[in-house]
Amino acid sequence: MIEVRGVRKWIQHLDRRVEILRGIDLTIPAGQFIAIVGASGSGKSTLLGLLAGLDSPSEGEILLDGTAIQSLDEAALARIRGRKLGFVFQSYQLIPTLTALENVLLPFELNADGDGVERARILLRQVGLEQRMDHYPVQLSGGEQQRVALARAFIVDPPIVMADEPTGNLDSINGQRVLELLLDRSRNAGTTLVLVTHDPQVAALAHRRITLRDGQIIEDVETPQNDHPAAKRSALETH
Ligand SMILES: Nc1ncnc2c1ncn2[C@@H]1O[C@H](COP(=O)(O)OP(=O)(O)OP(=O)(O)O)[C@@H](O)[C@H]1O
Ligand SMILES: [Mg+2]
Repeated sequence: MIEVRGVRKWIQHLDRRVEILRGIDLTIPAGQFIAIVGASGSGKSTLLGLLAGLDSPSEGEILLDGTAIQSLDEAALARIRGRKLGFVFQSYQLIPTLTALENVLLPFELNADGDGVERARILLRQVGLEQRMDHYPVQLSGGEQQRVALARAFIVDPPIVMADEPTGNLDSINGQRVLELLLDRSRNAGTTLVLVTHDPQVAALAHRRITLRDGQIIEDVETPQNDHPAAKRSALETH
């Protein structure tokens, strides 16, 4: 479970304070699939970075399973992030000197035991990159890099995955593949998913939709799960 309590984030610029998040309170139960939506500049990426412990709030706190993440030292935070959290950046952040397969494998090698190669191949196949495993990031399109970043977020099978615009650059076929991967994780692995998205199709799949405006939550609603195609499909599969 993730709890956000009275979180504010500002940037001090000379004598001016730029408010980015202006009082966020939020509880995300384990296993929930949340979509964060809102206009460009509303604070979505900033909030996601705080939730992942990549940045610290100016005020307030964030608790991960009851532990305030700001209270942890670098090593403890890195350990938790490595094992519990998969993160997909808006800018992908792949390592340029590693192939697609090696990029996906890296978190596994740092945080898990055994051989992750087969698992990395399966994930890359799931996102439609079976022909691109040995390519370097510069040889990949933006959408392909995005899918490598997504496969990398799932390699250690983390209980929580956060992704910033995971379908932002994808055509409908690859967008669908990514959605299936996310849904599969949410449903079958019980992964907590926190996705920033502009894509109404993604937002409709989530259990809950949070809308930010000017650094505040202006709407927090449960999304109906019965009247969209994916829910219908899952109902068919289970009966
Ligand atoms: N380091 C920084 N210094 C100054 N302003 C910043 C900084 N980081 C973010 N901001 C500002 O905070 C606001 C929120 O930024 P953020 O990246 O969280 O928006 P976003 O909702 O993710 O937008 P987008 O949909 O375009 O990705 C923006 O106005 C941005 O310019
Ligand atoms: Mg953003």
